[in-house]
Amino acid sequence: MSQSGPYLEPATLVRREFLPPGFWYLTLRAPQIAAAAKSAQFVALDLPGTFMVRLPLGIYTVQDDTFSLLFQEWGERTRRLASLAEGTAVSCIGPLGNSFRLPEERTTRATLVAGGLGVAAMWLLARELHNAGMDATILLGARSANLLVGMRELQIFGFPLDVCTDDGSSGFRGTVIQRLQALAPPGVLYGCGPPGMLRALCAYANDHGITCEVSLEETFGCSLGTCWGCVVPVRRGCPQGTGYPRAESETRSFDVARVCADGTVFRAADLVWQT
Ligand SMILES: Cc1cc2nc3c(=O)[nH]c(=O)nc-3n(C[C@H](O)[C@H](O)[C@H](O)COP(=O)(O)OP(=O)(O)OC[C@H]3O[C@@H](n4cnc5c(N)ncnc54)[C@H](O)[C@@H]3O)c2cc1C
Ligand code: FES
Repeated sequence: MSQSGPYLEPATLVRREFLPPGFWYLTLRAPQIAAAAKSAQFVALDLPGTFMVRLPLGIYTVQDDTFSLLFQEWGERTRRLASLAEGTAVSCIGPLGNSFRLPEERTTRATLVAGGLGVAAMWLLARELHNAGMDATILLGARSANLLVGMRELQIFGFPLDVCTDDGSSGFRGTVIQRLQALAPPGVLYGCGPPGMLRALCAYANDHGITCEVSLEETFGCSLGTCWGCVVPVRRGCPQGTGYPRAESETRSFDVARVCADGTVFRAADLVWQT
């Protein structure tokens, strides 16, 4: 383990807030994880109750010795997490995964593209860009205005926030990709959101020769790099791939990488999207 973790640490729920129509914003105290967290990293939570694999959730915001989570109730694990009382401690491993890389040239203008709960990967990135004195624009998209989350927390950095909704109920009518196509191409792109959005973002970046990194979400088993349940295809030669030489009989042209341990962040140029 490096000094930056990951740590196995009890995280104490200090604040829970319901955000209609179905989101939760939880603040947990875990000093080691909070101190080490970087953009796009996640925690794996062991929730009290019947045995289940740990729940991976992105580290959203960090303040002092606390970090926050932003999530929607989907199934058993998120329901359990949402129902925890303040003061409860949960076993937490984190921070896990790699991070977005900032451009070496500090004058490069960054655009952060977040779809839905993909915004959870963006607050720490916005803070890192802000602390580095860099300029950024944030494109935030959702299907409808009532599903837009994250604006309140992201506003504190003072970056322009460009809101897009599919139905036009707030901001630009259309997707974040359509909005991006209408703007001057940025120097660097960062994305997190649903697969279709990320695929379109990577295609846009590759077509325009723009450096782009995306944080992927897959269904995780162990969250720790051991089960190989979360692999995605990557370009052969990509540093995040297995690097295993191709067997003579092998027909596939790509390598694979584990999203939990080799990512979650990958360069657009290294991802191989399959239909
Ligand atoms: C690295 C990483 C970071 C993540 N960060 C976040 C985060 O910050 N916030 C967050 O809300 N989630 C995040 N997720 C997703 C999260 O881990 C869970 O998969 C999700 O919250 C559902 O968990 P569950 O056990 O409650 O539901 P499950 O029992 O897994 O699912 C219940 C039902 O909901 C459906 N479902 C589950 N997830 C989704 C989805 N995303 N969209 C549509 N239907 C779905 C399932 O198909 C199933 O029918 C992240 C996942 C990864 C791998
Ligand atoms: S979830 Fe087990 S290796 Fe990624």
